Amino acid sequence: MLSPSSCYLRRMQERDLPFILEIERLSFPNPWHESSFRGEIENLHISYPSVIAQRPHDRIIGYIIFWYLADKAQISNFALHPDFRGLGVGESALKKTLGAIRAMGARHVVLEVRPSNTPALSLYHKHGFVLLGTQQGYYQNPPEDALVMIRYFAPAQGD
Ligand SMILES: CC(C)(COP(=O)(O)OP(=O)(O)OC[C@H]1O[C@@H](n2cnc3c(N)ncnc32)[C@H](O)[C@@H]1OP(=O)(O)O)[C@@H](O)C(=O)NCCC(=O)NCCS
Repeated sequence: MLSPSSCYLRRMQERDLPFILEIERLSFPNPWHESSFRGEIENLHISYPSVIAQRPHDRIIGYIIFWYLADKAQISNFALHPDFRGLGVGESALKKTLGAIRAMGARHVVLEVRPSNTPALSLYHKHGFVLLGTQQGYYQNPPEDALVMIRYFAPAQGD
């Protein structure tokens, strides 16, 4: 039985790509190409791509990728395999990722989301994201604007 406590995040590796590409294809109408994921894996200075894996066999059930540069952070991709959604695993991965971004020194993190993506929007609102603005015509297939959302981190004591 899958539970958030049986799942963990670890850095994405090349051998994970077949599983990731399958989840990506099942999750988005305009899936990233393999070369995009490879680029994230190789971009050691800016990109932090993690798989969401399940114990005890390191089964890949999702992934979350963020960029961090000069105290600016952006979540660029995030998906769970459809068979494992709605079980609290995505929320747990997001919480761990927000904790990691905050620990790196970011004051805030941004992301883009479709207005029609009710599950993701609900999750982001639940974790303190608010609307920063919209990017017109950002998505295709189907065409949709992007909501740009931001989560601010309270300054640590002593800042
Ligand atoms: C967004 C996504 C990662 C959430 O992961 P998940 O493991 O299914 O979500 P969880 O089970 O942890 O749910 C946590 C919260 O998300 C929201 N949520 C999840 N599924 C939902 C649904 N079907 N309807 C409405 N809200 C939903 C709720 O706020 C939920 O909190 P609650 O249980 O207290 O109501 C997952 O739905 C997914 O992979 N979607 C396809 C890819 C995608 O849209 N990625 C984001 C792109 S911006």
